Amino acid sequence: MFIRAGILAASVVATGLVYRRLNHVAAGAVETPRIEGVTMPPTTTAEASGFRVDDAETSFQDITHYNNFYEFSTDKDGVAPAAANFETNGWQVSVEGLVRKPRDFNLDELLKISPPEERIYRMRCVEAWSMVIPWVGFSLSKLLDVVEPLSEAKYVAFETLLDPRRMPGQRSDVLKWPYVEGLRMDEAMHPLTLLASGLYGRALPPQDGAPIRLVVPWKYGFKGIKSIVKIKLVATQPRTTWSEYAPNEYGFYANVNPQVDHPRWSQASEQRIGESGRRPTLMFNGYEEQVGHLYAGMDLRANF
Ligand code: MTE
Repeated sequence: MFIRAGILAASVVATGLVYRRLNHVAAGAVETPRIEGVTMPPTTTAEASGFRVDDAETSFQDITHYNNFYEFSTDKDGVAPAAANFETNGWQVSVEGLVRKPRDFNLDELLKISPPEERIYRMRCVEAWSMVIPWVGFSLSKLLDVVEPLSEAKYVAFETLLDPRRMPGQRSDVLKWPYVEGLRMDEAMHPLTLLASGLYGRALPPQDGAPIRLVVPWKYGFKGIKSIVKIKLVATQPRTTWSEYAPNEYGFYANVNPQVDHPRWSQASEQRIGESGRRPTLMFNGYEEQVGHLYAGMDLRANF
């Protein structure tokens, strides 16, 4: 469990790995359509140099069978089977609030906003495990540009689908539904912030947040809200699921920071899934050159 289960993060990882070794979790029928026309983003400028990291990519099997998605299961190995038949036909995303041109997008319209790019990002979960994922998507800023934010917009609030029939985990009150997240406007407009529709060149499998999710590589993984139906530009800091659940453990910013420990475990190192041993956690998950300026002068211990 993510929280309050009395299990330390390291043992959560260990349990998952041992479980998979002992049970040889089947490859699982994760067959989603290939995404046409995937382009490679430029990596020449300082900002863009974070678009593709050199670290070895985590296997497709691990990315799609070791998941956090409480709408389906609180058991990492249980998400893939529970989400297997998730229906995303007719998906709509409303982009609204403090914008000049609010609009409902169907998925086709949304995906046509900008060519799909492959971005190879590190992902560091607050539980101290990490992966390297070849996402497909485009910068969230491209979508926000289409709706024309007003100057009063200071934050962006995101919301996951609320439908206990299709998301059976929502029948329990383990979290307050729908899952919500938020970013400051400058974070949302940063080119690294990705609206992802795929991974490994294929459409997102349900367990990874089909059909569209957020990826913010310098923040803990819980900021990467899945299966988004609403994006609202707002004037004040929006509520977020985990910081509301345990405000002393999960902050609004949630920037990866090896110097600021979680109250119940160290954040200094991490378990890269598929590797043995631990590796040091990098400041801003290794994206300090790209994003450090966003937090200049800010007390990162107070704003964790
Ligand atoms: N989004 C929703 N809607 N529900 C969730 O439970 N879990 C978060 C995040 N997005 C979650 C979510 C957490 S804790 C993490 S670490 C990542 O998704 C995991 O993404 P992955 O399963 O694709 O690796």
